[in-house]
Amino acid sequence: MPDTVLLKGVRCYGEGDPVDLLAADGVIAEIAPTITPPEGAEVIDADGQVLLPGFVDLHTHLREPGREDTETVATGSAAAALGGYTAVFAMANTDPVADNQVIVEHVHRAGQAAGLVDVHPVGAVTVGLKGEKLAELGTMAESAARVRMFSDDGLCVHDPLIMRRALEYSRALGAVIAQHAEEPRLTVGAQAHEGTQAARLGLSGWPASAEESIVARDCILAAHAAARLHICHVSTSGTVDVLRWAKQRGTQVSAEVTPHHLLLTDDRLETYDPVNKVNPPLRTASDAKTLRDALAEGVVDCVATDHAPHADQDKDCEWQAARPGMLGLQTALSIVAETMVRPGLLTWRDVARVMSERPAEIARLADQGRPIAEGEPATLTLVDPDARWTVRGAEFASIAANTPYEGMDLPARVTATLLRGRVTARDGRIR
Ligand code: DOR
Repeated sequence: MPDTVLLKGVRCYGEGDPVDLLAADGVIAEIAPTITPPEGAEVIDADGQVLLPGFVDLHTHLREPGREDTETVATGSAAAALGGYTAVFAMANTDPVADNQVIVEHVHRAGQAAGLVDVHPVGAVTVGLKGEKLAELGTMAESAARVRMFSDDGLCVHDPLIMRRALEYSRALGAVIAQHAEEPRLTVGAQAHEGTQAARLGLSGWPASAEESIVARDCILAAHAAARLHICHVSTSGTVDVLRWAKQRGTQVSAEVTPHHLLLTDDRLETYDPVNKVNPPLRTASDAKTLRDALAEGVVDCVATDHAPHADQDKDCEWQAARPGMLGLQTALSIVAETMVRPGLLTWRDVARVMSERPAEIARLADQGRPIAEGEPATLTLVDPDARWTVRGAEFASIAANTPYEGMDLPARVTATLLRGRVTARDGRIR
């Protein structure tokens, strides 16, 4: 039974006078200046906080099956709900790989059992993420998990013929291919962004051109196949130029940026702390600025977390041996507030676009990223824009604690998340 919930004094999209919003039977039943609480309703006193459509994350690593010591579908779902998310896309680089019906259906069912966010499994593009043979995209699309996004994320689909075929099949299936753009021949042994910092510290470089060359190639292939392409974790200024060019030509390409690439730079390498090791690597301050401007302008469509939990032993070691990746679900909103809202690059209405509406459109989710209006699903995120809080990785719902923001004082906090009228998280607690 969905709850009846009355949100008192919310500012929808952070605009206008506060209103009351009643969620009943899973939908927004009423929005009015004042609503008397129906009997038995849960009342949330929002006191002018910002109400947004529930966030959609196109890029989450939930590690199940295979690395349940770092995250499970259930713990990742809890982290997502606490971070304001109502839908997440679980990447396919699990062990075994999600390249078949059995695994995608397992992840899908585990998401339903957790019941906190809609968990959409991403199917692998190639068998075992090996880049050699297409996985059975059609079988995954027709499975109970109804897979509509395919990606070898963590690895690049580097063979152009396989990429071409994947795009052609995905078009027929109404799906999208999400590419981890990294020309592997250019990143052999790479440890950090190829630039002055890496050179000074003696770390071998991951050049911007390894990303940009694949993005350019795949935009051309997508246009040729009349297919939809999504670029994961855009990290360089040159990629923004390529995206602008491709979009001007009418290519069906979308792109995401992570919160960490908006805020952090390769200055972080100074400490040699592997918590800052991520793929693609943290780039220069100039790249980060270009990414913020591109997100504001819409050349980069949306924010995605690339939430990547890792065990202590895989992060607390020397830089070369450490795995790339960082947690993101419970800090994304605050990093977007810090990098985009505070400097005036995005309004709260724009945050709804880049964290909810655009990702829902890219993934073709019919009931997420919907307008806040009567009759629409009560799938909502309440944000206190004036809150400040200190990051403590050990307190996160994730099993792993590898956050690069440890001890940082951040603005804005999710105070409640509703999925189809049910409160999934409130005041930092799962419901
Ligand atoms: O830093 C990363 N970590 N980048 C990826 O593409 C994969 C991810 C992971 O799975 O840990």
